[in-house]
Order: sequence, then structure tokens, then C-alpha cells
Amino acid sequence: MTVQNYIDRAAHRNLFLIGFMGTGKSTIAAELSKLLFRDVLEMDETIEKREGMSIPGIFSTYGEPYFRELETSLLKEIGESGNYIISCGGGVAMRKENVEEMRKSGRIILLTAKPETILLRVLDDESRPLLKGHKNTNDIAALIHSRRPAYEAAADYVVATDDKSVEEITEEILNILEKEGISK
Ligand code: S3P
Repeated sequence: MTVQNYIDRAAHRNLFLIGFMGTGKSTIAAELSKLLFRDVLEMDETIEKREGMSIPGIFSTYGEPYFRELETSLLKEIGESGNYIISCGGGVAMRKENVEEMRKSGRIILLTAKPETILLRVLDDESRPLLKGHKNTNDIAALIHSRRPAYEAAADYVVATDDKSVEEITEEILNILEKEGISK
């Protein structure tokens, strides 16, 4: 390993999981946390605890722009610490400012899934205001389509999750980290 590799490795300590709602960010973050002995930081959960309110509550009381500001300031805080596995909210990669923050402190892995897969995963969940009244493959596909360029531009790596078990997805990510020399 070169000196530059060591410097890069030290500077990229966090691991950010980004991607559309229902791509498995929380589940995979929890699994990686066990395997890599690193703490998980769930952005949505952290924001809910701090605000003392659910995500739908924050959206309906203060509006989406307020929530997006909370996401950005949390990312700035995370950047000052390190060694976390961060499960990002699905909209985090939409702001350039957020992507810059993530880049400064870690690597970014994009999880993807087809609209059909996402629909099955989110069907019984009422915690996502943006999917209220849009739980059908057409609307999900349209939102994914509009977000895809930002997701792809942010990602260091892309992992498709359709038809794969949690173990298979985790294994794929571990292989990526291993190749990069940042798994330890
Ligand atoms: C959102 C995704 C949600 C949550 C909020 C907005 C989005 O997180 O942050 O409802 O804009 O895609 P998950 O991706 O964890 O569901």
C-alpha cells in the first residue's frame, strides 16, 4: 500500500448507503455493522429522535424543506466524526451540498431496486410521506427516474438488490470494501 493509499484510507472513514426508499439501506447497514464492528447511524431515526416527531409529523408540521435542512446539518455533523455506517434517507443524495459532505468523510454506496421490488417492500409502511398515494409501480418508477442521475453521480459503487438475500448483498459490499482496502 502506498503512502497516498494510507492517507486516503484515513480520510475516508464513514460508509454511506444511499438509494431510493425500500432499497434496503437500513437492513444492510445493520448487517454490515455486525460484521464490521462499526456503529450504524440511521439518519431518519436520528432526526426523529432529535425533533421528538416522526418523519410524516415533521413533513406535515414544518414542511419538506425544513426536513431537508435537518438532513444537511446532520451530515455536516457526521463528517466531523467517523467510522460509522450511515443509512441515509432516500432524498439525501439529491442535494449537491450533501454529496460533497459525504465525499469528504467517506465512501458512498448506492443500493438500487426495480420499482416492482420497491413496491413490495414499502406496501405496508406508512412512514414515508413521499409515497403517500403513490404506492404503484408507475409513480415509483417516475420518481426513481427523476432521481437516478443524482444517485448515480453521487455513488462510488452501485449494488443492485433485486432477488438477492441480505447476506448476498452484504457479501457484495464487503468484497468492494476488501478490494478498496477499507474494510478494517
Ligand atoms: C425520503 C426517504 C425516507 C425519509 C423521507 C424522505 C426520500 O427515507 O428520509 O421520508 O425523499 O426519499 P428512507 O429512504 O429510509 O425510506
